[in-house]
Amino acid sequence: AKKVEEEGDPRNFVEKMERAGKRAVIFYGSQTGTAEEYAIRLAKEAKSRFGLSSLVCDPEEHDMNLLDQVPENAVVFFVMATYGEGEPTDNAAALMELLSEEEPDFSQGNRLENLNYVVFGLGNKTYEFYNEVAKQLDKRLEGLGAKRIGERGEGDDDKSMEEDYLAWKDPMWETFSKVLGVEEGGSGDVADFLVTEITDHPPEKVFHGELSPRALIVASGANTPVSGGYGIKNPYPAPVLASKELFAVSGDRNCVHIEFDLTGSGMTYQHGDHVGIWPSNPDVEVDRMLSVLGLDSDSKRFNIIDIESLDPALAKVPFPTPATYDAIFRHYLDISAIASRQTIAFLSRYAPNENAKQKLTEWGTNKELYAQEIDGPALKLAEVLQAASGDSLDQPQDGQSFNSTKWSIPFDRIVSSVPRLQPRYYSISSSSKLHPNAIHVTAVVLKYQSAASPVHHHEPRWVFGLSTNFILNVKNAHSGSNTPMSETTANALEAVTMKKVPSYKLAGPRGNYVKENVYKVPIHVRRSTFRLPTSPKVPIIMIGPGTGVAPFRGFVQERVALARKAIEKNGPDALKDWAPMYLFYGCRKSNEDFLYQDEWPEYEKELKGVLRMKVAFSREMKKPDGSKVYVQDLIHDLRAELAPLIVDKRAYIYICGDAKSMSKAVEERLTQMLGEAKGGTAQVEGVKELKMLKERNRLMTDVWS
Ligand code: 2AM
Repeated sequence: AKKVEEEGDPRNFVEKMERAGKRAVIFYGSQTGTAEEYAIRLAKEAKSRFGLSSLVCDPEEHDMNLLDQVPENAVVFFVMATYGEGEPTDNAAALMELLSEEEPDFSQGNRLENLNYVVFGLGNKTYEFYNEVAKQLDKRLEGLGAKRIGERGEGDDDKSMEEDYLAWKDPMWETFSKVLGVEEGGSGDVADFLVTEITDHPPEKVFHGELSPRALIVASGANTPVSGGYGIKNPYPAPVLASKELFAVSGDRNCVHIEFDLTGSGMTYQHGDHVGIWPSNPDVEVDRMLSVLGLDSDSKRFNIIDIESLDPALAKVPFPTPATYDAIFRHYLDISAIASRQTIAFLSRYAPNENAKQKLTEWGTNKELYAQEIDGPALKLAEVLQAASGDSLDQPQDGQSFNSTKWSIPFDRIVSSVPRLQPRYYSISSSSKLHPNAIHVTAVVLKYQSAASPVHHHEPRWVFGLSTNFILNVKNAHSGSNTPMSETTANALEAVTMKKVPSYKLAGPRGNYVKENVYKVPIHVRRSTFRLPTSPKVPIIMIGPGTGVAPFRGFVQERVALARKAIEKNGPDALKDWAPMYLFYGCRKSNEDFLYQDEWPEYEKELKGVLRMKVAFSREMKKPDGSKVYVQDLIHDLRAELAPLIVDKRAYIYICGDAKSMSKAVEERLTQMLGEAKGGTAQVEGVKELKMLKERNRLMTDVWS
């Protein structure tokens, strides 16, 4: 691609628009990249529908006080994610601050009468402040005289982001075309990338799963000192230090404890942080996809391809290149997810025959059919293509390869339409005070039964979570011994066996992996605010059933480290004035899934009565009415002891685990308890108290669904 000399002020987006003749600019408030992806999709659609090219911009990198200079024949889009308790993403904080001012200091005044804008929010309904940022932004822009095009879009990350987006965008584009006076036209299919197969490329410069140029340098064994830290843009290939199964009776369920070695990486973390783990796709899915695309022969699979963006402002090459087809499907693209309606619809034009084309078109346009035949039965993209052309989805017998009908899909369209494989986040279950050079992760292995498919799969099938099964495989490979497993789990493992753990060592001209003795997994640390108060004299109440206990193992270890120091310095009575640490944990049975059962007594001993652990064994204990005992019931039983700690002693409360039912149920009981303690009702005083605790960060949650 040619480099155009940039002129002028790089922060002046209005000038950039004028210079490049663009009539739309799309700002994204994005933390993990999802909002940015939607921003890029909007830009692409503006181009394919109207032939309009736009700028996609990070608000942090531009002077947002120029919003008042955007010409009347142009449109500004805002694609805004909402975080945590209704907060904007880091890169949108300054913009939101500017708009929140009574009389914002725009470049020529404090009104936005000329501005046309579009707003789409990304939020999550399990949180209280659903799409708060998009709402606020919309309200403020309107208040400042700006004119919204179409309705405000709101996507729910918990359930229906894609559907919400699809339902919102068409009416918006209609209004857009009227306001801008532009006509629909164009094929709806513009190439974003130029893909070239290359024959002679130095093998040490080909990516085989490394996630950054730096990882490639490290892998090639070069002794170049590398500067800058590891992070989301440059994950660290961490060796596995230790791993084990945590369930005493695992059969049907597995929970993996795995430790990553940070020695020499310069990486640090704090208790309560998250670790991003970058999984790889299983062999079987890589083979299936390569077969469907006719790339599965040995002579094709390891061909090296280079990918260039045809319009770097709109589409960045989503992974490092040059790379092989094999590596792209194994490490860089998410081919294990349920295929999206949008991708299916898009690929229909490349169907090998009319029948297949019709199927894809139906699935891509008919929501009910898609739900019933694709989403319910959990079909992955390559499976959808197989199903459309009437191929069997079953894994071939040992040694055989898939023999699928070939689809000639230009590779650049695959790169544009299949999402990039993203890291998955886990609450770190260790403390850096006890384990400065290790990150511990506690992951329950996800598998579930899909719905039956009326068309291709009459029976429900097992569906295996990509990342947790990847971790299970790494554990098995690392520990060399497989945990005893039930038949379904054994089949599961077969289905997700990952023979090639990226080990960043290349051998042979094709760059196959060799198994080193150490297994390495790319990881990075994401900071969180889920932290202990500095002083051990502040009481804390931790609530984390199931793997929700993970960060609290880190919290307890953190205090153990502090206790050791205190005792060393001030003698055995050093913990006398420490406040209690309550830990409410829940699992099914004391002899089945009690996580870290052997460790807790040790911690209790070292903390000399400070740690008070209460466990709800939901399938062992029963309430008088016969119902299950959960953590919230234990909290309720101890309310006389806990309420004064919260109300008078400024205790900190932490909830971790299931967002849907558990954390809601716990908050309800807390509300009830606090209402009573304040001499009032749950609905009034309780709600008020809980709100105050949240605002002051004395009630913190780390929950997932
Ligand atoms: P159950 O599976 O017996 O229903 C960890 O998963 C523990 O959390 C299990 O003991 C599980 O109980 C329990 N659990 C399930 N739903 C819960 C809820 N709504 N609130 C609290 N604990 C729950």
